[in-house]
Order: sequence, then structure tokens, then C-alpha cells
Amino acid sequence: MADLELSADAPACAADGVWLACIECGEQFAPFDDVRYTCDDCDGLLEVRYADPPTWDDFEGRGVWRYAAALPFDAGVSLPEGATPLHDVPRLEADLGVERLRVKHEGMNPTGSFKDRGMTVGVRVAQAVGVDRLACASTGNTSAALAAYGARGGMETLVLLPAGKVAAGKVAQASLHGARILEVDGNFDTCLDIVQDLAGRGEVYLLNSLNPFRLEGQKTIGLEILEQFRDEEGSYPDRIVLPVGNAGNTAALYKCLRELEASGALAAEEVPKLTGVQAAGAAPMVEAIDHGWDDTERWDDVETRATAIRIGNPVNAPKALPGIRATSGTAVAVSDEAITEAQRDLAGEGVGVEPASAASVAGLRKLREAGVVDADEQVVCLTTGHLLKDPDAAAEAGEDPEPVPGTTAGVLDHLGG
Ligand code: F0G
Repeated sequence: MADLELSADAPACAADGVWLACIECGEQFAPFDDVRYTCDDCDGLLEVRYADPPTWDDFEGRGVWRYAAALPFDAGVSLPEGATPLHDVPRLEADLGVERLRVKHEGMNPTGSFKDRGMTVGVRVAQAVGVDRLACASTGNTSAALAAYGARGGMETLVLLPAGKVAAGKVAQASLHGARILEVDGNFDTCLDIVQDLAGRGEVYLLNSLNPFRLEGQKTIGLEILEQFRDEEGSYPDRIVLPVGNAGNTAALYKCLRELEASGALAAEEVPKLTGVQAAGAAPMVEAIDHGWDDTERWDDVETRATAIRIGNPVNAPKALPGIRATSGTAVAVSDEAITEAQRDLAGEGVGVEPASAASVAGLRKLREAGVVDADEQVVCLTTGHLLKDPDAAAEAGEDPEPVPGTTAGVLDHLGG
């Protein structure tokens, strides 16, 4: 795998073998002295670095904090999170025609999405840097997770949501967990612009995936997938397919793979191909992969039923694009109809996910049909959020209830027996 730039020598600014480095210019910073999201010198994205990248023997326990050796702290504000199931889906596997298909259901986290993995670390870091007001822009899941973890940590939370474009379950979560919810007249990218401005003025501590510590928590999805798959299947998967919005998860998975390769825990030929899936109406990452660009071009108008990934300016693209390329993966766009079909396919295996999550399976189907994914591949699809996050989309994708009379005879009559 190319693009391995993890340095092993801790600089003077490191704290307990942890520091921040700019992915553009290499400048290094102390991790917790100041609040900092991007490079002071060039505004590039920051990455958390460790003196000792972890190996498998370093991990013990269950869930996100099993992987403390790969994280900046030993414990965090926890509900607890991680240890999600890796389902087998035999009918879907046969239908898609791959050798093995497993589904990593991140909807089984405490607030129903993978965001919890990032928040348990991010809120711990917020405590370390001594801030009290946490904020994020969100298509919904980040706001639900921030509200819950902020509440758990006893901190004030502020969330900026694109008005009318966030699924009902997510708004309800943010609301009940006590976040102050600002409904912005604009899309997610507008919300993120504003919250970045607020963070720059010191008004709030930013817990979007621009915050490099959140991605450290999300790295544990990769660690968990690799361990579970290896223990149950005897090898590592050939490919990991995931939905892409702000590209934080793609960046986090790539970092996981780089660190494992750097420590010798994963051989170069064992690295799974990172494969991103976007909705056709919001696909700047697919465009960048198709054109060989180093960054995305902002899409001002985005639309998709998968509101979680309705994003036109993925801020983590400079971290995620090299990951897709270095692992020989790819990116693909799918229609809303294909997403709904995949949501039904997963539900037919008992796995209930929200639309954005089903994009991974829709993407795998498209790539398999195009011959990009081979029949002999072992694949993990990541499903990122629970069905109940978006009850309206689920009800629309499913069957309508049938009204019947309030008698057994009436019910039998209706059933035709
Ligand atoms: N799937 C779901 C269910 C999501 O909520 C998100 C992102 C993604 C996939 C994409 O992940 O941004 O790391 O590429 N949701 C964010 C939010 C943007 O605000 O909840 P990504």
C-alpha cells in the first residue's frame, strides 16, 4: 500500500507518545495544549499520530475501548459503544454472487449509528482541552450522538441541522438528549461552514469529523471488522464497501489500515480495498475518483432520499481519496431507487438499516454487475445507521398496513381463509 507516512519518532511536542501532524505540510503540534482543527501554517487537515502503532496483541476488552492502544486515551465518555454484529446474509450473498458477504451493522451502537465511536473519543478530548460547549453540523446522526455523549459528559451541546432535511428519529434524539437545535436555512455544507466559523471564533468546540480525534474512534470499525472476519472466516476481507458523505469514515478506515500495516499487524497483500458509495445526487467523491483529482469540487445542489449522505463538500476528501487509491478500491454512485431496493434486501435478511446505510449494498450490486467486483471476493458491507433513524423512509420502502375489522372472523375473511 502506498502513501505510508506515519513517522515513528515522537516529536518534542508529543504528549504520552501522541501528537498531531498536518497531512499537507507535515507540521507537528501538541495534541491537547490548544484547540486546533487544521494546520496553523497551511490550514491542511490534521491527523493524530502515535509513537507506537498497535498490533493485535495490544487489544483487550470489548467495544471501542478494546482498542485503547490505538487511541489517544485509555477510556472515554462511554455508553458503551462498538462491538457491533457482523451479520452473515446468505440469500443476499448468493444473489449478489460474491464468495462471502458479511454486513457490519453499525446501527447497533447506543444511539443507532457509527458516530458513537467517534464521540466517545471526541468528548473525552473535549474534557482534556477544557471546553464546555460542544457543537456540530449534521445530517442527523452526528447530532444525535453528540447530544447523547455531551449529556453523558455533562456538557452543553449545540447542533446545526439543514432545515427539513433531517430524518425524524435523529431530530428526536438530539432534542430529548438536550441539544440546542438550530435549523439552518441551507444544506449540510452551509451548516458546516457556519459551525467552523463559530469554532474559529472560540464560541464552540467542533465535533464534526474535521476534528481528527473523532476519526480515531471511528478507526475502531476497521479494527473490529478485521478481527471479527478473521476469527470467523479465517482470513481478512478482500474489500470493505461503505457509504460516503463527508468522507470521515473512509479516512478513518484508511488510517486504521495504514497503522496496522506500519506495525506489521497486516501484510500489504492483506489490506482490503476501500470502496466508497455515494448517492447519485450527491457524489463529489465519485467524481474526484473518476477524474483522478486530489480533492473534490463542491456540489452546491445536492439531493437524495439518503439524507445522511446529502453532502456536496466532503471535508475529509484529501484524507479519503488517497485511501481509496492506495488500497486499489474505487467509488461508485447509486440511484435512490437502488438504495431503497438494497434497504429492502437487507430488511429481508432481518437487518434493518436507514437509506444511507443501504447504499453500500446497492454499490456492491452495481460494481458486481459491472465486473469491477469479482465473484471470488470476500466482502464486508458497512451499514452505518439503524432503520428507526428514518421511520418515514422505512415505511415508504415497506408494505402498507392493511385495515381489518375488529373480529377474528373479519381477520380470517381478510386473510382469505
Ligand atoms: N451513513 C450514515 C448513516 C451517516 O449518518 C453518515 C454521515 C454517513 C454514512 C457518511 O459518513 O460522513 O464519514 O462519509 N453522517 C454525518 C452526520 C454527516 O452529520 O450525521 P462520512
